[in-house]
Amino acid sequence: MADQQPQLDTVEKSKDAFLNLLAQLNDEQFHEFDSFARSALDEYHGQLHQHSHEDATNEDMEVEQHDGSFQPVNDLKMMRLGRMIKDLRAKVPMSAEAPGEKTVIPNTVEFSGFNDNNTVHVDGFLFSEEDVDELCDQGKMSRNYCLDCQSRNVAPLNFISHSASVLQLQFLYQVALANKVKDKVVVDVGSRLGAVLYSGHLFTRAKRLIGVEINEWFCELQKDMIRKYKMDDRVEIQCKDIQQLPELLSKQADVVIMNNVFQFFSELPIQQQIWKYIREQTSKKSGLLLVTLPSLQEQLKEAGLSSNKLMKGWVKEIKLNYDGGWFEDINEDELEEIQQVHLYKVI
Ligand SMILES: C[S@@+](CC[C@H](N)C(=O)[O-])C[C@H]1O[C@@H](n2cnc3c(N)ncnc32)[C@H](O)[C@@H]1O
Repeated sequence: MADQQPQLDTVEKSKDAFLNLLAQLNDEQFHEFDSFARSALDEYHGQLHQHSHEDATNEDMEVEQHDGSFQPVNDLKMMRLGRMIKDLRAKVPMSAEAPGEKTVIPNTVEFSGFNDNNTVHVDGFLFSEEDVDELCDQGKMSRNYCLDCQSRNVAPLNFISHSASVLQLQFLYQVALANKVKDKVVVDVGSRLGAVLYSGHLFTRAKRLIGVEINEWFCELQKDMIRKYKMDDRVEIQCKDIQQLPELLSKQADVVIMNNVFQFFSELPIQQQIWKYIREQTSKKSGLLLVTLPSLQEQLKEAGLSSNKLMKGWVKEIKLNYDGGWFEDINEDELEEIQQVHLYKVI
């Protein structure tokens, strides 16, 4: 979701700041600072070790290999999805945000240095990397912003997407969930523009595809699209907070899809409350499949929760093969995109 550049910048700036601090000290002060710095580093090491230990035990979590199935999708379906994307581009602003929508840039390492001035929202479902390049060539979008408003002194903008890309959706349905959703009920938690639902209707024979979306503007948008493209035979929208629909998760759903639903949309305590609720409800249905982007481990950690503790006794991971040559001419960035998709089964 985020570019790596700001992280590198932060590391380089920290190194510089550290060396500057050292340069200010005389010999005596240096000794005192030296012992302080060593004990501070020891403490940080201890914390890091604890986290990596958690991750390692997470790795020990029960896992299963994916069965390697692949479900083709014909060109006509891809063209129909392409038409819907074109239509949506005309219906939503360039940033694909709802009027008055408030998103919070997370206060995490991944997004350090991101702020309203250097961050743009570009919807990954509506615009591929190639589309962004084309828009930049046409002068309708920029990849950089000016640091001092008068020169070539520019820095790269940070791009954030709130929807799954077409390639991620293809991987999700054609590989991760291949042959697993026929006659099943699929729930997309936080369905936004409806990307997961429209592609699910086109690519699969799911019995029902239910989008739950808290934002009314997006609910109306999706309902219009579903009517217009005659998808109401199998697609429906519930305009609610997911916390109001426990039985959807504990009884009705066979597959629950969650693409970074809460991180940009709620403060940490709410995110933690919702994750515990999701665990509680989905735990009631053994065999239920969860698809998350990015991994559940990452999302729980970003929410300030222990993935090790929460995932124990809840899910096992079904390891996916991202490198199976599923799609032609895939580049490194695209590989990274599909590597966001993870599959789990409730135990
Ligand atoms: C990152 S977007 C996911 C978009 C979509 N699922 C996709 O993959 O293209 C998250 C969406 O979840 C919605 N949302 C956030 N918290 C929610 C909640 N508690 N219940 C329902 N929807 C929620 C937000 O309004 C936002 O539109």
